[in-house]
Amino acid sequence: MRFILLGPPGSGKGTQAQRLVQKYGIVQLSTGEMLRAAVAAGTPVGLQAKDIMAAGGLVPDEIVIDIISDRIDQPDARKGFILDGFPRTVPQAEALDELLKKKRLKLDAVIELRVNESALLDRVEKRAAETRARGEEVRADDTPEVLTKRLASYRAQTEPLIHYYSERRKLLTVDGMMAIEHVTGEINRILEAIGATEPKAARRASPAKRSAAGIARKGTKAPAKKGAAKGGGKGTKKAASSARKTRKTVSKAAKARRVGKAKKAVRQAAKRPAKKLTKKRAKR
Ligand code: AP5
Ligand code: MG
Repeated sequence: MRFILLGPPGSGKGTQAQRLVQKYGIVQLSTGEMLRAAVAAGTPVGLQAKDIMAAGGLVPDEIVIDIISDRIDQPDARKGFILDGFPRTVPQAEALDELLKKKRLKLDAVIELRVNESALLDRVEKRAAETRARGEEVRADDTPEVLTKRLASYRAQTEPLIHYYSERRKLLTVDGMMAIEHVTGEINRILEAIGATEPKAARRASPAKRSAAGIARKGTKAPAKKGAAKGGGKGTKKAASSARKTRKTVSKAAKARRVGKAKKAVRQAAKRPAKKLTKKRAKR
């Protein structure tokens, strides 16, 4: 499983990545964390990145692309990874496409966490206060002034990726204003719905077998989702209402993909009984 978490500073990329790596046994690849480690270690990359990060700008594309390319090759990334904070510019996204192609790896999805800008400052201030309370060093960029600059960088350089991945039918949007566990639940539902969480054996099985096993095909509604909406599974009305609300946030691109595939399935299904009837009639 390989996917990107896209969203402005404080949208919850790191929080969600940490919850998901545990569930799926994959790794979190956070360029922000890697760069902070490089700054702390005083490496040449760290020395180059330090002032840029502290000012809320973006580190040059070549640097982060090299870091990610090397990191993806590490043995622990073989089972899959979550890209947290990468790509952040269109050239980074193009470079990622290229390197995944070279390594013969597939990107399952890009999950955008959408959060109101007014909530971002509260979150970043809260994180800084909690870090301070633990006696740890607060991130140099976790101040209201630098957050404003990070947001400006996001709008100018990263937001175009929403269009980039939407055009490539990879984008799925989640309401990041929900409580942390509900955001995780929605991401899990999306990953199931697109088939990213299927066991390998089921992935190799024929569509008929997959359907018999109750596994949703990529782009179709997952059975679990249907159950939740009807009050099945976890069973509570709250869960059903939450499922209904969060489903609405799935991007238009994903909906179009589902509708396209569903229409194709309906067309194919419509052809099958017609053939059988003709044969039966012919026998009679
Ligand atoms: P990076 O470290 O990636 O920072 P960021 O994108 O600015 O995002 P944050 O880490 O601040 O937020 P987050 O979305 O991870 O939110 P979190 O889960 O912590 O990058 C730092 C810098 O490195 C960049 O500015 C740039 O200079 C450089 N850099 C990195 N990658 C680069 C790249 N690819 N190219 C160029 N430069 C690059 O949550 C925040 C807080 O909110 C937490 O306290 C959390 O508990 C809380 N919270 C989370 N979710 C919720 C929720 N649903 N409800 C309530 N509270 C929540
Ligand atoms: Mg983060």
